[in-house]
Amino acid sequence: MSIDETARETRIDSAGASETHSRQETVREARIDYLPRDPVELSRPIGLIGAGNISGMHLAAYRDAGYNVVCICDNSIDRARGRRDEFFPSANITDDVDDLLARPDVQVVDIATHVDVRPALIERAIRAHKHVLSQKPFVKDLGVGARLINTARRAGVRLAVNQNGRWAPHFAIMLAAARDGRIGTVTSADFAVYWPHDKIVADMPAFANMRDLVLYDFGIHWFDLISRLFADRGQAHSVYAAVNSRPGQVIPVPTEAQIIITWENATATLVLRAASHRLESGSYRVEGTDGVVVHTGLSLGGNDVRIVTDDSDLVIPLQGDWWQNGMHGTMAELLSAIEEGREPSNDARHSLPGLALCFAAMESSRRGVPVDPRTVVVPPED
Ligand SMILES: NC(=O)c1ccc[n+]([C@@H]2O[C@H](COP(=O)([O-])OP(=O)(O)OC[C@H]3O[C@@H](n4cnc5c(N)ncnc54)[C@H](O)[C@@H]3O)[C@@H](O)[C@H]2O)c1
Repeated sequence: MSIDETARETRIDSAGASETHSRQETVREARIDYLPRDPVELSRPIGLIGAGNISGMHLAAYRDAGYNVVCICDNSIDRARGRRDEFFPSANITDDVDDLLARPDVQVVDIATHVDVRPALIERAIRAHKHVLSQKPFVKDLGVGARLINTARRAGVRLAVNQNGRWAPHFAIMLAAARDGRIGTVTSADFAVYWPHDKIVADMPAFANMRDLVLYDFGIHWFDLISRLFADRGQAHSVYAAVNSRPGQVIPVPTEAQIIITWENATATLVLRAASHRLESGSYRVEGTDGVVVHTGLSLGGNDVRIVTDDSDLVIPLQGDWWQNGMHGTMAELLSAIEEGREPSNDARHSLPGLALCFAAMESSRRGVPVDPRTVVVPPED
């Protein structure tokens, strides 16, 4: 799908007044594919492992897309039942992963547990010849990630990662504009997010007590996006990060982070303020040699994206949101890749560079010096 019916041009006249109107040539020029693209066959059977909080977002998006979830597994059968009853009433439920993996009808396994137990589950699913969609963060050890990628390749199955941020509409347009060369060579990308994450996770001990909640569990989306924006430059050579706490935050771990990432002649910065209790906002500005993409909204996105080049000034209204497009987009891409016999764009190997940036930031925040992400394999232990 494209935005060609909805793109608008905002012209700034010589007096500085802005005028918004439709123009056919601008509409054609603004053709940017950023929405999830479904496979032809929607009914390829999916099994879900891990029916916790985030699984509700997965299942809502799959239901709305017309996908076919046939089995839901959780250690807690009550959680599996709850998700089944709400989203896929005719699915089977089990509390035994082997039951799900033994089902010949299940072709794709969506694994939405925490990362601590996920690699072992991914490996079991691959060995059962299932295609896998892993929640993020993909792994805690890049060596383990590489091994899983190789295991999947040898087994002839696809292993993709649910980096749903890539399909959030405001980020999907940004990535498409960079990928298509619309703004030339990307030279800088600056992101800032102010939101009350501490209050959101206050009653979830697994997150509220996670030392690297902001840099790792949340920040991985942004590190992943940055790695995709600068993918053609190879890995960055320096990551400098500092974290802090602030008065008024309601969790015991750092909520403030600032990160500077550099390549030769290119820079990315990221400011995360996760105990900001008023006036939530999220913004970015991505500069290229031939244009600029800018966005301002809430922490997970807003209403439009503006792309400015020498020839045009486009304000593009967005369709969908972080959750719906994100969870739909990651599974849609995996299903389409399976159907078309190609590598998905969210193949796990494309998650490793973003994880390396993230691990380097964690290391830098401990040591107080820049860290070369090409040298890190695992995040710091404490
Ligand atoms: N992509 C996103 O935007 C996003 C948002 C929130 C969370 N997440 C990620 O999703 C993951 C899960 O987060 P959550 O909040 O849903 O956690 P959760 O604790 O609510 O859910 C995890 C579920 O996995 C189940 N589980 C654990 N081991 C299992 C096993 N061996 N077999 C079957 N079930 C098992 C647990 O019983 C639990 O129900 C985390 O990695 C988190 O970072 C991603």
